[in-house]
Amino acid sequence: MMQDELKKAVGWAALKYIPLGTIVGVGTGSTIAHFIDALATIRNNIKGVVSSSEVSTEKLKSLGILLFDLNDVDSLDIYVDGTDEINSNMQMIKGGGAALTREKVIAAVARQFICIADISKQVQILGHFPLPVEVIPMARAWVTRELINLTGGLPKYRHGVVTDNGNIILDIHHLHILDAITLENIINNIPGVVTVGLFARRRADIALISNPQGIKVMS
Ligand code: A5P
Repeated sequence: MMQDELKKAVGWAALKYIPLGTIVGVGTGSTIAHFIDALATIRNNIKGVVSSSEVSTEKLKSLGILLFDLNDVDSLDIYVDGTDEINSNMQMIKGGGAALTREKVIAAVARQFICIADISKQVQILGHFPLPVEVIPMARAWVTRELINLTGGLPKYRHGVVTDNGNIILDIHHLHILDAITLENIINNIPGVVTVGLFARRRADIALISNPQGIKVMS
């Protein structure tokens, strides 16, 4: 099976986890694009959604799904999002699509985080995928130096990318992440860092992993 078929299979598989009559948190990326197509088929049975990016918002709008501002929502039962890497503890690297900050905020609000991914995203050790960090533009050079000192990895500026929040992305290469929670805390504490794309303190509660044989459920 092609990777996009696996993404589609898992995007549609997530539908049965959606509680009807509620507001659904929606992530970002090509796997989530399939989930949004699936969600559109039950749009009259959910209250609406909160979106984690402008890209997802456009697609949700085009399919007639009602959008809520997160500030108008007291609580969220469920958040569905893709990932760039996920380990057996359901800790993740996210932000390949530069939407990590809004994704992390919605994940923090949600009672349950469902990660949907194809088998290529499952890893033993996080860090082969470069770790995205959203940074305030004026702090770019300082944060780069700090990331080298504190992580031993090699941060690279993602040229031409401005996040939905007006910031830049540094991707840290050559990491081998053994203690994701500690690294998340260290990077988040650097002045100028908005968010690191490590989702370890708030990891997924359920992961649906698609492979050519079917969907594996981790919880
Ligand atoms: C967006 O910033 C990311 O966190 C995505 O969730 C992640 O990159 C997965 O994307 P795909 O579903 O396109 O692989």
